[in-house]
Amino acid sequence: MKFIVLLFAVILVSGPGIAQNQKSDTLFFVNPYLQIGSNPTAESLTLLWQTTVQNAVWTVEHRTGTNDKWMKTETPAGTKINITGNAVHTVYRAALTGLVPGSRFIYRVLANGKQVFTSEAHAPRRSNQPFRFIAFGDIGAGTPEAKQIANAVYTVQADLIVVPGDIVYDNGLISEYRSRFWPIYNASKVDTIGVPLMSSIPFAGAVGNHDADSRDLDKAPGALAYFHYWDQPLNGPIGKEGGAFVPLLKGSDENKRAFMEGAGYRYPRMTNFSFNYGNAHFTFLDADTYVDWTDSALTAWVTKDLADAKDAAWRFVVYHHPGFNSSREHFEQQQMRLLAPVFEAGKVDIVFNGHVHNYQRSFPMQFAPDKKGVLLVGGKENKIVRGRVVTGKWILDKTFDGKTNTNPHGVIYVVTGAGGQDLYNPEQQNDPDSWQKFTNKFISTVHTFTVVDIDGKKLTLRQQDAAGKTLDEIHIAR
Ligand SMILES: [Fe+2]
Repeated sequence: MKFIVLLFAVILVSGPGIAQNQKSDTLFFVNPYLQIGSNPTAESLTLLWQTTVQNAVWTVEHRTGTNDKWMKTETPAGTKINITGNAVHTVYRAALTGLVPGSRFIYRVLANGKQVFTSEAHAPRRSNQPFRFIAFGDIGAGTPEAKQIANAVYTVQADLIVVPGDIVYDNGLISEYRSRFWPIYNASKVDTIGVPLMSSIPFAGAVGNHDADSRDLDKAPGALAYFHYWDQPLNGPIGKEGGAFVPLLKGSDENKRAFMEGAGYRYPRMTNFSFNYGNAHFTFLDADTYVDWTDSALTAWVTKDLADAKDAAWRFVVYHHPGFNSSREHFEQQQMRLLAPVFEAGKVDIVFNGHVHNYQRSFPMQFAPDKKGVLLVGGKENKIVRGRVVTGKWILDKTFDGKTNTNPHGVIYVVTGAGGQDLYNPEQQNDPDSWQKFTNKFISTVHTFTVVDIDGKKLTLRQQDAAGKTLDEIHIAR
């Protein structure tokens, strides 16, 4: 599964708006990177790149075999990002369509007719093909540990990478993407700073609190950069500002207008969405504390989304705040427990969360909140339903060990938030008495990431550290 960036750039380009002898290092504000796209299929991916260069004529081509004819995409669409305090740049998007599912392909980007970037990648897998995805959250801190984990992820390789939130710290800003995200995950080559992951592997991301909480565009005009830079399905519920799951956007009309010009139709919808990959269905949700998960429109969408995916061999849900968390840190942020009955009815296999900077795997479980929509604090009803304790009753499947018994009863909840930020509660790893009863595995002394291999109705989940050591492993067979 090793992809190689074939050639990067020292090709000179010339033409209107591009200086002679300009290297692609300066041509690209951000190198080309792959995403699932707004309308994902097994035959398509979306390629994005960013540039400060004006007036270049961009073309994207791809082909499956080295002797095949290059297929030209539709004209790439550019969206200008002109936000106070940031260099004016344009985000280009080109849909790579007509891919052969499951096949490796080559793409190239041309500026004014000259090739300036090329890479290999995989088209999404067919439903009958094995595939690998990696999940790791809380990745955007720019720490040495984030770089080590990025390097390990690059070494392992995958078909798809899912990020359960906190893509960039601290406030989801354009400037933070520039310093803490692109150089690490979308480098030109493997170096001491980063790896060229995103040019060959599509990332899919859920918003975390550090991506989406900051919404005052006067204080931080570059906030909510997620909506500028990601390209994901827009099949979730349509929220209204000030409603149950979209907070008010604050700021001057001018700053709001500048934000909306960059974010376009992706704001505010691109926070809850789903797509199929291989034989699996992925549902991404916004678990931030501003969301009211007692909202019937929101839960109805999740219920229907999972029901519609009943033919998928696997159903995974990805969001930031874990409902089931044994760490002392963030322990009371249990709002997502309310969704447990919905996940159980929808036959979800595994939920992937971040927010808590360590690794935790639950027993397969069923959970019934004490009273739907009402959270209890100190035994009293609390109408403030967000970010609070949710009590209830568990049924834990302790017979499942992922080795001899590979048939879990219930949903397995995985916290994989050890992607680079400071680790939480290392003192709890060897203190199982401090774990909640639903927790089966707890690793909090080392940064890790999750590798999931799917082969038909068999699944292997491994938690690995930066050195490639497997610290936890389970198998599921259907
Ligand atoms: Fe977080």
